Amino acid sequence: MQKTITMHNDTTENTTANTAKDTTDNTLTITPESPWLAPLAGWSDLPFRLLCKEEGAKVTCTEMISAKGLVYGGKHTEVLLATCPEDSPVVAQIFGAEHDFMAKGVALLQKKGFQHFDVNVGCSVAKVVKTGAGAALLKDIPNLLKIAEHVIKQVHNPDCKDFDDFGNFGNREDFHEGENPILCNSDGEDFYEGENPILQRKMSFSPSNSPFPEKATKNINTKQCATDSTRNEENKEGIRAGKIGFKIRLGYEMGNDVYIDLAKELEALGADWITLHPRYAKQSFSGVPNYEALTKLKSTIKIPVIASGDLFTAQDGVRILLETGVDGVMYARGAMSNPVIFKEHVLLWNYAQENKLKPSEIPHINDLMPKTTENMRNDLGKLIERHLTYAKEFNPHRALLQMRTIVPRYVKHLENAKALRLAIIACRTHEELKSVLETYFGESL
Ligand SMILES: Cc1cc2nc3c(=O)[nH]c(=O)nc-3n(C[C@H](O)[C@H](O)[C@H](O)COP(=O)(O)O)c2cc1C
Repeated sequence: MQKTITMHNDTTENTTANTAKDTTDNTLTITPESPWLAPLAGWSDLPFRLLCKEEGAKVTCTEMISAKGLVYGGKHTEVLLATCPEDSPVVAQIFGAEHDFMAKGVALLQKKGFQHFDVNVGCSVAKVVKTGAGAALLKDIPNLLKIAEHVIKQVHNPDCKDFDDFGNFGNREDFHEGENPILCNSDGEDFYEGENPILQRKMSFSPSNSPFPEKATKNINTKQCATDSTRNEENKEGIRAGKIGFKIRLGYEMGNDVYIDLAKELEALGADWITLHPRYAKQSFSGVPNYEALTKLKSTIKIPVIASGDLFTAQDGVRILLETGVDGVMYARGAMSNPVIFKEHVLLWNYAQENKLKPSEIPHINDLMPKTTENMRNDLGKLIERHLTYAKEFNPHRALLQMRTIVPRYVKHLENAKALRLAIIACRTHEELKSVLETYFGESL
């Protein structure tokens, strides 16, 4: 861990000029100095969320969760639901194409203890789009608004149960778990289950041999919610009303912008925030994000706007906040390579405020706080060890495979990274991994 970096004090939240409207929830903060961890399929699981929280993420998002998987009790879905009190505040991201599945999916997540939600309207992976979910909803606004109406109602009023609770969800046989994909690889390319070592492990998971300890889900209703806003009392089932956002793109394809009108409609329906990744779905991750669209969106709606897209460093995040006036940012690939990005963000944001910097004057964190290679290595060694500890604690069966995917990303910029990466990928046991890491990181472990 970076010793030179100190965590921003919670009490300073909501004090900056650029502060978003209060989301009326004490724990779900959307402000410039409260960076979020983006939803990341195959990546933002409980261990990674906990690590990012420790590294200064104010709010974290789960991997996208299939509404159908929830309703039909898909095995892939079950593994995504692990949480614990320390995971709070967490936003559960849900995807689907049918309003009744989506509302019921939210209700099931509420029963599991999740209070806040996000609807995926941006995933452009073929497997998702072909089901009418994710970015496909940008091509069917009436259906998207129907979904929005139902899920917003369910989140804001958990007792409404605006879906057919007695079935009418079609035939489970129609649901193939293969439809619940891990989205893309770290470079944003489509990514198929067979190629994903993490998911291959997921496929061998079953509730009876759940790698998640019971404690992971048991306490959440009481402890997590006790720290949440008092906006609504718990209902008989221990469920509280929460907040809901929508993560959208500019439109499905170039020349077909929907984001402004869509955001206005969602706001009118009661959405609590909008996250915009300012690219078209057809672009996937290519081209340059249109950050001006964030400025335009921010000046159009009153609910908070969160920016996502090519925020690879804290410098990028702080610059975009100042440039566009959005309320908050979420880090995705930036956090996958460097979970410390959240602390760096808070430091840079404060530095920019104190020194009244313009967007173009924001320094890179390494220029602000230069570190020796030795320090960098030590910090990284400790970070990897903590990630491994969480991964082993919460998901012992997946930990090794996960670390074989995750660690190479962390060490990419280090000396001898290629050799280290190859050695890590070749590890077959925890002992082998430990020995490789010890050889490389030495005493820092
Ligand atoms: C591996 C990976 C998985 C992702 N999974 C999700 C997801 O489950 N839900 C979602 O809304 N976006 C997902 N995204 C998109 C990110 O949340 C984010 O919007 C996008 O990567 C742009 O941010 P970045 O350029 O800073 O990485 C994913 C991106 C990556 C790279």
